Amino acid sequence: MLVLGIESSCDETGVAIYDDQRGLLAHALHTQIPIHAEYGGVVPELAGRDHIKRVVPLIRKVAQDAGVTLQDLDAVAYTAGPGLIGALLVGAMEARALAFALDIPAIPVHHMEGHLLAPMLEDTPPSFPFVALLVSGGHTMLIKVAAPGSYEILGESVDDAAGEAFDKTAKLLGLPYPGGPKLEALARDGHGDSNAYHFPRPMIDRPNLNFSFAGLKTAVLNEVNKSTDLEQDKANIAQCFEDAVADCLCHKCQKALEQTHMNTLVVAGGVSANSAIRQSLQQMMAQRKGQVFFARKEFCTDNGAMIALAGMLRFKAGQVGSLEVNVFPRWPLSSLPPLSA
Ligand code: KG4
Ligand code: ZN
Repeated sequence: MLVLGIESSCDETGVAIYDDQRGLLAHALHTQIPIHAEYGGVVPELAGRDHIKRVVPLIRKVAQDAGVTLQDLDAVAYTAGPGLIGALLVGAMEARALAFALDIPAIPVHHMEGHLLAPMLEDTPPSFPFVALLVSGGHTMLIKVAAPGSYEILGESVDDAAGEAFDKTAKLLGLPYPGGPKLEALARDGHGDSNAYHFPRPMIDRPNLNFSFAGLKTAVLNEVNKSTDLEQDKANIAQCFEDAVADCLCHKCQKALEQTHMNTLVVAGGVSANSAIRQSLQQMMAQRKGQVFFARKEFCTDNGAMIALAGMLRFKAGQVGSLEVNVFPRWPLSSLPPLSA
């Protein structure tokens, strides 16, 4: 069975074709970074307009790369939320129209379920149950995943998401959008010194599994204001900020694994592309003699492959969309129906 996946929730148009027998056949991504860079962040109207331009050529390319025709498809999956409404509508309309023309189902997919399942695209996928750490631009969550589609939220950020904290801190350091990867590069290439500052580890002593990153950003602002604007200061701040986020994530993951009596961790979402954070979590899990799974870096950030995969699972469970086009800018992950076939 073949499922086409379309991702258009934010600033990247992603398209992929997933085969339930052979796995991922082809995928392609178009990033809007140059469009939004001059504004320092995503401009929703420009995002929607660019998705419109890119989505059809990307579908053609992916079908060609996969060696299939559109008539071979069994379903079209699309990101139905959460995300920017104008951006979501482009993918949803395209998927719904294509599915109607081909007389096949359209499958609405939850963007965060896509992220969470992305490590299953790898050669050694995690087995259920596990604890998932979802760290993206809009969400930071710890989730108990008993089975595919069964998501119990154990904790989340009470203020900024981890990716948002990266982006805002990067802005304070004068780095261009998109901040997260730029901040990582500054810490690494600028040989940032982990001992130069000690930033707080908010909520680390609390017994719950929630996160908070807003205070960390304020601590960075104080140091930026004191700094003499030397490049080395900035690299040091970037490094120490990254260390603080990594510590908070490790600490709460460990707590979540203890509370659930599990020793398998799955880490997904844009921030899981960060090498320092991957390494810290790997070290922590090695000490616990547990296993940690990530997606390859290009599938940590937004992509069509994760939507095609999640769409395939929902399709096989018989969960197909109606003829209506519905998108959900806000959509709690815990409200999804179970994925039992
Ligand atoms: O998952 P994602 O692509 O989109 C959302 O669903 O939000 O995540 C984007 C977020 C952004 O905040 C971006 O700065 C962050 O992930 N990010 C990173 C890295 N790559 C992306 N943060 C830190 N280090 C990175 N290498
Ligand atoms: Zn995302």
